[in-house]
Amino acid sequence: MSTERRTKVLEVLKTAEVGASLLVKGWVRTKRQNKNVAFIALNDGSTINNLQLVADPNQIAEELLKLVTTGACIAAKGDIVASQGSGQSVEMHVKELEILGEADPEKYPLQPKKHSLEFLREIAYLRPRTNTFGAVYRIRHAMIFAVHKFFNDKEFLNIHTPIITASDAEGAGETFRVTSLDMDNLPKNEEGAIDYKQDFFDKETNLTVSGQLEGELAAMALGQIYTFGPTFRAENSNTTRHLAEFWMIEPEMAFFDADDNADLAEEMLQYLVQYALDNCQDDLKFLHDREVEENKNKKESERPELYLIDRLKFVVDNKFERVTYTDAIDILRNSKPNKKKKFKYLIDAWGADLQSEHERYLVEKHFKKPVILSDYPKDIKAFYMRQNDDGKTVAAMDILFPGIGEIIGGSQREERLDKLEQRMDEMGVPKEELWWYLDTRKFGSAPHSGYGLGFERMILFVTGMTNIRDVIPFPRTPGNAEF
Ligand code: 4AD
Ligand code: MG
Repeated sequence: MSTERRTKVLEVLKTAEVGASLLVKGWVRTKRQNKNVAFIALNDGSTINNLQLVADPNQIAEELLKLVTTGACIAAKGDIVASQGSGQSVEMHVKELEILGEADPEKYPLQPKKHSLEFLREIAYLRPRTNTFGAVYRIRHAMIFAVHKFFNDKEFLNIHTPIITASDAEGAGETFRVTSLDMDNLPKNEEGAIDYKQDFFDKETNLTVSGQLEGELAAMALGQIYTFGPTFRAENSNTTRHLAEFWMIEPEMAFFDADDNADLAEEMLQYLVQYALDNCQDDLKFLHDREVEENKNKKESERPELYLIDRLKFVVDNKFERVTYTDAIDILRNSKPNKKKKFKYLIDAWGADLQSEHERYLVEKHFKKPVILSDYPKDIKAFYMRQNDDGKTVAAMDILFPGIGEIIGGSQREERLDKLEQRMDEMGVPKEELWWYLDTRKFGSAPHSGYGLGFERMILFVTGMTNIRDVIPFPRTPGNAEF
């Protein structure tokens, strides 16, 4: 039986005709049984919805039915009939049953009850079998596809930038070292320092923190490109917004100024959210209802103003607010939490770096919508950002989202060789190592801009999950590289 053509549960529920004889395979979510009938909820991952299998204990061998337990994998053949109960339109009357993989109910960690997200993180290898994580991973896939579709429709080229590099694109020194040297017997040079000339690449290398610099090279020939790759940061930030390994989308466009850059970013974010609304309805509805349920017993003041689907619609329907850093500082300085010293980091002067508490105040309390913050002080931003004429600020842009904080960081790039070199000197960025980057400013330089979208932060927003560890299948965070 298991070699015949299988019909996916999604297809059965959507299109199967009453009377059809079909084969389905999947994992048992629950079984309820009495003397005359057994109800089995089957899920195969193609949809959040289960197919109800109805089996007659007088027709299906008892030893077989006994092995139909939560977590077991089974194949079932039978007839599609109109569903008696509420919920689904059809169910299957089982004629033949096969156990593909047993799951000892005494040992199977996922019981048919509500588990905490913390517990599920400890069994991340099994959590895709829950409704919540199934929904999150299906939406994650839809968003990957939508990113490629958005850029492909605009004739951007997808570029694979290197994962192993010798540079630190953000200059923040938070890289993971890549080496093939013997850690227990490191070669030393004449000065007694580690001799990286003997390492695999003849020099020090690390995992990339961003594909941007290579993306810029490509844009200086191909016009409009984007990367979508893994990036790695050894920052010891144990927060619900940081991963050590995350995925980033980095478009880079020749001839775009800072305004063009912001326009593209806003259009892309709205496109992605709309794509989810159009294509992930069942999963979004489940996550929306879950959120309503979670907040049911909270005080009015602690409940979200909008629930998931309404938040998504709000972002699609409203233009983002555009504000300069300088104006934002004024707003923050005069804000209630600043005056009442409720912020952990008080804002007293222009030049202060914004913490996530400030970003969230601007987005959630003050503007109550996504905010595009621009023109930051040059001293708190990376060396490659274009210097504004005021001598103090750079053409930087961060996009802040409700419940998330920074979701995008980007800028117009410094295309003038002398200005770029001056900034690298001031910030101690080694020019020798980035000679190839500087060369693009010598040969056919052009104004250009780009940004980076943190993919998991986007998935946080679209799913309404609140911890970034729950939107990537196998999170990498300080102290955690299990599975
Ligand atoms: O602001 P960041 O550091 O900017 C860059 O890397 C630029 N090179 C992007 C560019 O202009 N091409 O990172 C961009 C985004 C952030 O806005 C955030 O969404 C996400 O990447 N991000 C992280 N996401 C999860 N975990 C972390 N540790 C992250 N660090 C940044
Ligand atoms: Mg940033």
